[in-house]
Amino acid sequence: MMTIIACVDRNWGIGCNGDLLFDIPQDMEHFKKQTAGKTVVMGRRTFDSLRVRPLPNRRNIVLTKNRSFEYNGVEVAHSISELLALTNNEEREVFVIGGSQVYARLLKYCDKAIITRVDAAVNADSYITSFDDLPEWKVLSVSERFEHKGLFYNFTTYIKDVH
Ligand SMILES: NC(=O)c1ccc[n+]([C@@H]2O[C@H](COP(=O)([O-])OP(=O)(O)OC[C@H]3O[C@@H](n4cnc5c(N)ncnc54)[C@H](OP(=O)(O)O)[C@@H]3O)[C@@H](O)[C@H]2O)c1
Repeated sequence: MMTIIACVDRNWGIGCNGDLLFDIPQDMEHFKKQTAGKTVVMGRRTFDSLRVRPLPNRRNIVLTKNRSFEYNGVEVAHSISELLALTNNEEREVFVIGGSQVYARLLKYCDKAIITRVDAAVNADSYITSFDDLPEWKVLSVSERFEHKGLFYNFTTYIKDVH
């Protein structure tokens, strides 16, 4: 099973024009801390948007249908089944780090979601499903409320409750 990690606005927006919605250094630190030493899976568009690629100190897997895509330090999966074959025996936690397409495709293989919930509504063109509206998913924990330059946010962890 994999873990989703994402930062969302009040409407579960995650991106606009190929970029993130927020620049919150503490959230970046949180992301780094959670995923350090682990495996990260991302769509090709999200990979293209990274300022540093591949993400250092992590096993990077990029999903793309493009057979000629290659990048030093990156493993490539051309389909979900190729991805599952690559991560099948992975003992480290596998994080799905976006974007919108990849969150949607991989949701059914995930049982945990670590969501940075920013209490603001901004312009977005990419979304992740609202975990509050998925009957099988429950809130496991909610962090305290943090603030960065007038933006309030918390870290909410959801788990898939199969019972
Ligand atoms: N807020 C957050 O936490 C967060 C995190 C990550 C990203 N984002 C944002 O999300 C947006 C990007 O999301 P997106 O949906 O446009 O793109 P994406 O999910 O990052 O990448 C989509 C690409 O992944 C590949 N892909 C998807 N499904 C595949 C499959 N089944 N098999 C093989 N390849 C597959 C395709 O690549 P090819 O076209 O190369 O075939 C597709 O074009 C950006 O705005 C980004 O900043 C936000």
